[in-house]
Parts: sequence; structure tokens; C-alpha cells
Amino acid sequence: EITDVRAWEVLDSRGDPTVRAAVEAGDVTGRFTVPAGASTGRHEAVERRDGGDRYRGLGVRDAVAAVNDDLAPLVTGRDATDQSELDAAMVDHDGTASLERLGANAVLAVSGAVARAASAATDRPLHDHLAATHDTAQSLPLPMVNVISGGLHAEGGIEVQDFLVVPTGAETYGEALEAAWDVRRAVRDGIVADGHRPLVADEGGFAPPLARVRDAFERLVRGIESAGYEPGRDAAIAVDVAASHFYDANAETYEIESEGRTLDRAGMADLVAEWVDAYPVVSVEDPLAEDDWDGWVGLADRLPAGVQLLGDDLLVTNADRLDRAFERGAASAVLVKPNQAGTLTRAVEVVREAERAGLAPVVSARSGETCDATIADLAVGLGAGQIKIGSLARSERLAKYNRLLEIDRERSLPLADPFGE
Ligand code: PGA
Ligand code: ZN
Repeated sequence: EITDVRAWEVLDSRGDPTVRAAVEAGDVTGRFTVPAGASTGRHEAVERRDGGDRYRGLGVRDAVAAVNDDLAPLVTGRDATDQSELDAAMVDHDGTASLERLGANAVLAVSGAVARAASAATDRPLHDHLAATHDTAQSLPLPMVNVISGGLHAEGGIEVQDFLVVPTGAETYGEALEAAWDVRRAVRDGIVADGHRPLVADEGGFAPPLARVRDAFERLVRGIESAGYEPGRDAAIAVDVAASHFYDANAETYEIESEGRTLDRAGMADLVAEWVDAYPVVSVEDPLAEDDWDGWVGLADRLPAGVQLLGDDLLVTNADRLDRAFERGAASAVLVKPNQAGTLTRAVEVVREAERAGLAPVVSARSGETCDATIADLAVGLGAGQIKIGSLARSERLAKYNRLLEIDRERSLPLADPFGE
């Protein structure tokens, strides 16, 4: 039974305010800290910020007050293991689908802390608790590891947001981590050899000067090779274009300055198809804008089988948008970010719905994170198959990678093989 709920303001990995909550149930406490995106989708659940002068408007005192004054009385006295009922009650109490009244950051803070409290109360790790609750087969997720960053995560860099390595040849989680580390180090060597400083962006990826998008792919392929791996077999590439952020909705064009071009939807699809053709790419995220459904359907038809088309800003961890993507054949995979959904229950539902529809779920962190590692347990417990949590640098990233190492050490779970035959 939940005996106390409290929230307070803390700072995330960008140094910006976010909400941390603690839920007490008898002699155990569950804590959860909400992450925050920079390249947020328009259809995400609403993150509540105070506005005004304090922290340039980014403060979350109102969301904290929503937890302490609105949600605490609502959930106190209930059973912490009734996650879905608790989440439904909070969504009801908010009264809006986007959770804009109380703030999705208020609701998720409690939702996540409730799950942690339930896990502690039932004396099992969160991944086991989730697997038991949802009757899922657990596995360690194959990570896609950020190596080169651009877009809104590395201001002044290339338009495309993430270039990632996917250690497709690994047989264990440990091997996957080592291969990704080798490739990241080799890319770093290349950047230093060219006279650039290997400074890292919001998710720990490098942001060297790049004239064209192709130069990032080239660096990654060279890194894979010089680390001693075969591109496309041992290690492949994933890309998050995050195209909504250089899309001009009025002109309906993609402004990709590094290519010296303004592209319409067909031109943007052509460009992405060229990259996929030229490089060992296995996953393409947000290659088109968040409401360009026709563009997505068109690209889905022409991508080679086996190349994952992953919706982040398009699908925003929302079951209705996922259903629409399934009906239209607009995507083959869905990014799962609990704070886009606003409750843990909604995020779990999207994973389960994706599996029913034959779409691959990819559990994901945000660009603004903390050392909270809950999503590592979420990915394992639901057997999601893939995880995207940034680069192998910055402690808010390593907290998740290291949590997966801990689970790997404690359990002999298989590494998922989402790109296998
Ligand atoms: P965000 O970036 O957290 O800034 O939205 C992550 C992503 O786009 O995948
Ligand atoms: Zn994305």
C-alpha cells in the first residue's frame, strides 16, 4: 500500500530542470526521474514547464506541485502493484489525452516511481517484475550506439541527428558493447587524426565538422573497418534523421543545407534511399517529418527488405498512431519513450501492440537524461529486442549500459537478434 508520494526538482544531463518522484509503500521506496527531449515530436504528451524568468522558463515547480498536491492524494492508500489502475486513475484525473493539465512529467514521475516501489515491495528486480506482470519472455536488447551527433543535439553540426553503430554480429550483450566501443574509439581516432577535437554532444556522440551527411557515414564505415569488423556483417549502421526539425511545413520542403538543397518529399525519400544503398544501413529513423504520412508510406515501399523503418516523432509512443502506421504500412518499427506516452502503462501497451502488429519495438532514452536506469529494465523485462540510449560516454548513458551488464551478469538471458534471419 502506498503511504507517501513526493516530488522535487532536480537537474538533468543538460543541466535543465526535471521532475524526480519518490513513492513509499510501507518500508520500501521507489524513485524515478523523468527525462526530457530536445527534438521533441509535436504529438508527444505535454511536458509542463513553468515559463517566466526562473531557469529561462524551464523550471518544473508547477509539475512538482501537481505531484504533491493533486496526484499524491489520488494514489496514496492504493496498492503499488496496481500499475495500470493507478495510471488510468492519474490519466482520468488529468482529463486530457495529452496530459497537458497536470503535465506528463508529473504523471510519469509518479508512474515510474510506482513501478519501482512495486518491484521493491515484491522483492524482485524491475525487469522480473515487468516480465511476471506481462507474462513476457525476457532478453537483453541489442543496442544501437550513438557515434556521431548532429541536429538539435549538436548545435552547428550536420542536420541529421544520430549516426549509430549496431553490433549485428555480437552473440552476447558483452560482445555487443565491446564491438560498439571499438568502433566508437576508431571513429574518435579518425576525428583526432584529422585535427579536430573529439568533443561530445548531448548524447555523448562526436560532432566533428562535416561538410556533407555522407561524410558522417564514411567516418562510421571507416571506423567499423579499422576496428577490424566487416561492415554489414559484424557491425551495421543506424541513422536517426529527425527530419521534422529541418522540415518547412508551410513550403512542405526539407531544408538540408549541407546538401545545398531544398527537397520535396520525393527528393528527401530519394536522398535517404541513396544513403541506404551506399552504406550498410539496417535502420532508418524519422527520415520524413512527423505528419508526412504519404512520404513515409512511399519510402516504406522502396526500402529494401530487412531495413527497419523506425518511427519516433511520427509515432510518439502512441498506440493510435501505431495502429495508423500499421494500417498504412508506414513504418516497421516504433521507438518507445515513456515520457512521450506519459505513463508506464501506455509505454508497455505500445510495446505489446507493436509485437502483435509485427512492428519492432526499440526502447529509447531522451537526449536529456539522468542516471535513472529504469528503461534498461523495461527493455529486458518486455523482451523488446532493441535499445537506443546514446553513446558510450556520459554517466547518464553508461548508467543504462551498465545496468544491462548487471542484469547480464545475474541472469543468463539471450541477446536479442532483431536483424537475424
Ligand atoms: P530527443 O532525441 O530526446 O531530443 O527527442 C532522441 C531521438 O530523437 O531519438
Ligand atoms: Zn529520434
